[in-house]
Amino acid sequence: MKLNKDRRIEGYWLATPVTFWTQKVQEERRRKLRARVELGNVTFTEFMRHEEINAYLLRLAQDYPDIVTAEVIGQSFEGRDLLLVKISNGTDANRPIIFADAGIHAREWIAPSMALYIINQLVENPDNANMYQNVDWALIPVANPDGYEFTHTDTRMWRKTRSPGTICYGADPNRNFGYHWGESGSSSWQCSEIFYGRHSFSEVETQAIRDYMLGYADTIKLYIAIHSYGNWVLYPWSYASAFPDNADEHQTVGELFNDAVVAVGGSNYTVGNSAQLLGTSAGCSDDYALGGVGVNLAYTLELPGGGSGGFDLPAEDIQTVVEQAWSGWQAFHRYVEDTYGNV
Ligand code: ARG
Ligand code: ZN
Repeated sequence: MKLNKDRRIEGYWLATPVTFWTQKVQEERRRKLRARVELGNVTFTEFMRHEEINAYLLRLAQDYPDIVTAEVIGQSFEGRDLLLVKISNGTDANRPIIFADAGIHAREWIAPSMALYIINQLVENPDNANMYQNVDWALIPVANPDGYEFTHTDTRMWRKTRSPGTICYGADPNRNFGYHWGESGSSSWQCSEIFYGRHSFSEVETQAIRDYMLGYADTIKLYIAIHSYGNWVLYPWSYASAFPDNADEHQTVGELFNDAVVAVGGSNYTVGNSAQLLGTSAGCSDDYALGGVGVNLAYTLELPGGGSGGFDLPAEDIQTVVEQAWSGWQAFHRYVEDTYGNV
């Protein structure tokens, strides 16, 4: 048979295998997605889609009804369920709560993975059963699911929500909280990456977090906003370079986190006041938790970066990052149990 050079020049032979390969990859992805949604499995070798994550959380609530509850605390702008997972073996309403949200910034993919790892370790590793005896956990693994999905389907580096403005989409949810809202380090320009929104709590996603916090204002002792990247353990204030009354406690507990991570071979985190280390940014969730709600300790945790810009950590690094950081979370838990638990 003659080799048909013309066809090659036309790109036929080139185009065919490329299209074929892409289709194969996409089919494989869709097959895995369907399987994981059906089984409710979790993975730390890939970044999971929102649908898979929620399926996993609902499966846990079904399989471990004595310790796990999954609560829909609202809908995203585009109508996705905002799921909060509570892990607790007690009925004592006064037990201290560790509350965390992740993925409020869409492109920071390692953040939801971190939340999922915490949930996975607490629920599915019996060695950690002691960690919900005197302390309750509440986690929102994907606080901005519309943005998160958009980074998977359209624009990898999307940060904000997806509520439409007149010219641009989205507000920065981490400038949308109602404590010193609209001040330094946030923007009124709707196309800005740090657009603070039409008004404080204009976004349904920040409203849901606010309402949960207010509902448990007396018992949330520790709040952590999980972000990436840069290895920072930041505490208020963020709207201005000033320290809260219990800055020393914040510093000490932040260092407990870091020491625990370093002890297992993780890279060092810098612990300190947010505005002093990174400049001011008003309307952040940690400031609101501390100043608006009155929780005892509030942090923004910036996990390690990866990939060319920092936000695009390769999937093969997920396991190492979350496993090392987990030691820090164990230190957080020890502190809360020792200090605020009724042991
Ligand atoms: N990188 C995060 C952001 O831009 C956190 C900046 C510091 N702010 C804070 N509240 N700790 O939202
Ligand atoms: Zn962020």
